[in-house]
Amino acid sequence: MDRDIGIEIVGLRLRNPFILAAGILGITGHSLRRVAEAGAGAVVTKSFGLEPRTGYPNPTIVEVQGGLLNAMGLPNPGIEALREEVEEAKKAGVPVIASVYGCSEGDYAEAARRAEKAGADAVELNVSCPHVKEVGAQIGQDPDLVRSVTASAKKSVKLPVIVKLTPNITSIVEIAKKAADGGADAITAINTVKAISIDIDVQKPILAAGIGGLSGPAIKPIALRCIYEIHKEIDIPLIGCGGVTTWSDAVEFFLAGASAVQIGTAIMYKDLGIFSELQTGLRGYLEEKKVESIKQLVGLACRNNNKTV
Ligand code: FUM
Repeated sequence: MDRDIGIEIVGLRLRNPFILAAGILGITGHSLRRVAEAGAGAVVTKSFGLEPRTGYPNPTIVEVQGGLLNAMGLPNPGIEALREEVEEAKKAGVPVIASVYGCSEGDYAEAARRAEKAGADAVELNVSCPHVKEVGAQIGQDPDLVRSVTASAKKSVKLPVIVKLTPNITSIVEIAKKAADGGADAITAINTVKAISIDIDVQKPILAAGIGGLSGPAIKPIALRCIYEIHKEIDIPLIGCGGVTTWSDAVEFFLAGASAVQIGTAIMYKDLGIFSELQTGLRGYLEEKKVESIKQLVGLACRNNNKTV
């Protein structure tokens, strides 16, 4: 009999632990629905702010060794448009998580409140975009701001609040502790790694914004290390994000301490078929290891490693 790969996280029941990451194909309600119909356990929308934003001029994305480098500039139609996207995406019957960003505590609280009104099942605070000034990582690199932004979003909604952290920081554990102090229901780790690519003919950065965020297989060991470190120090549900391309990548994240994983760049390589491929592979692993549920795997590598360095 097939192993059950369903999970429960932040009070939501997911049929499997594979969640669409923010910004990848979550461009419209229809694309979110398509991903859910292809088998995702939940979907995260692109990041919405209170006002519409055009984003950066092209080029905004470039393929590099080991992944993709992007600097889109948080383009979005403003949070008023979220309701329509959520309604469409929910037709596929999986939880819809609204990603939101802002410039202040008040912005995040208001965006979370509007996401709740729009019908989202949870909200993910993007405090980790690596290159848009005044939003994202400029907040996510300041431990006290992470705590206060999380606390005010929590105060403004009944929805579960997930905080997506940046790896572009000395200690992600310190930031994760502040998110937990602020009342976060879960943490997503990580957003992209700040990076650059240069065109040697025109002798300038390829991306219009100059610096962007690296995603894909190259950042998997970084993301995995972040999950491992946070899990060792803090008792909070974790969602792994960064370079998950195969079912065995996902298993590594569970063993490091994640309860679920987000899938982003891999969709560019494997298309939407990746969601059924991941499920089949994970079921096979659980069967082979005689493990009843994913819960039994979560953090096992931390417990099995008694070295403290
Ligand atoms: O450029 C962007 O829109 C990226 C957003 C993010 O990494 O959160």
